[in-house]
Amino acid sequence: MQTSSTLEVPPPRDVPRHVAIIMDGNGRWARKRRLPRFAGHKRGVDALRVTVKACIERGIRYLTMFAFSYENWRRPEDEVALLMQLFTAALTNEVNRLHRNGVQLRVIGDLSRFDVRIRNLVAEAEARTAGNSRLTLTIAANYGGRWDLMQAVSRLLKEQPQLAGSEITEPQLTPYLSMSYAPEPDLFIRTGGEQRISNFLLWQLAYAEFYFTQALWPDFDGAALDVAIASYRDRERRFGRTSEQVEEEKARLEKALEHAGKAARARANA
Ligand code: IPE
Ligand code: IPE
Ligand code: MG
Repeated sequence: MQTSSTLEVPPPRDVPRHVAIIMDGNGRWARKRRLPRFAGHKRGVDALRVTVKACIERGIRYLTMFAFSYENWRRPEDEVALLMQLFTAALTNEVNRLHRNGVQLRVIGDLSRFDVRIRNLVAEAEARTAGNSRLTLTIAANYGGRWDLMQAVSRLLKEQPQLAGSEITEPQLTPYLSMSYAPEPDLFIRTGGEQRISNFLLWQLAYAEFYFTQALWPDFDGAALDVAIASYRDRERRFGRTSEQVEEEKARLEKALEHAGKAARARANA
């Protein structure tokens, strides 16, 4: 089971272990060029490919991308249909490359609303890449943070009906959340200038660092990711503690590392 940022303080990390991104701004990218919105979504897939590679190179272990929200069904029918086509094409054309690069693919969200072709492609891709561990790429499709919490509570009570009426604890609930296999995101990025969470990972972002950029998603790349990571590094992640406590912990860790280094050198010289 993964640790919880609200039950214990996670160790400090220079490189975020888990990055979660809302890829926003495809439509505006296309409009700026007088292209149909679809062209923006298509370029969005290219930016996703570039970002996966950049994350692997930087040693990020989990990347979670918001591709289609529960609320996106409200869009015009033809745009929804085109997005489904793109999703199908990506599942058909990209999985080989992901697999070759050691990427494990996961899809979270209410898949029951997708047609069976997409559901089968998802199942195949997940099964095929299940053994990979370099990067876990999660695509959130027909995902909503509230949906996730509701399905988790429903499943918990269905499987453990004896808990109804009692006080439910975090460790009892979290295995039922759709991302129970991943640690909580350290860094949350939203492109496109909007500063909102749009019903993305409500539970899991409890202590994530938030980074917003005006860059439109099709323009996002490794350099843009580096700017986000630099901003993340500048933050003091206190998890409820004071600055002084954070500093003390840092000094303690450095001392322990120094000690370990000395001991290793002594052993090597012996
Ligand atoms: C994000 O880009 C992609 C999806 C929601 C699928 P948008 O399509 O929301 O782009 P804007 O916000 O209209 O520019
Ligand atoms: C959020 O983008 C969902 C995805 C990126 C898939 P939207 O562009 O749909 O978000 P809102 O509606 O502007 O908040
Ligand atoms: Mg948008």
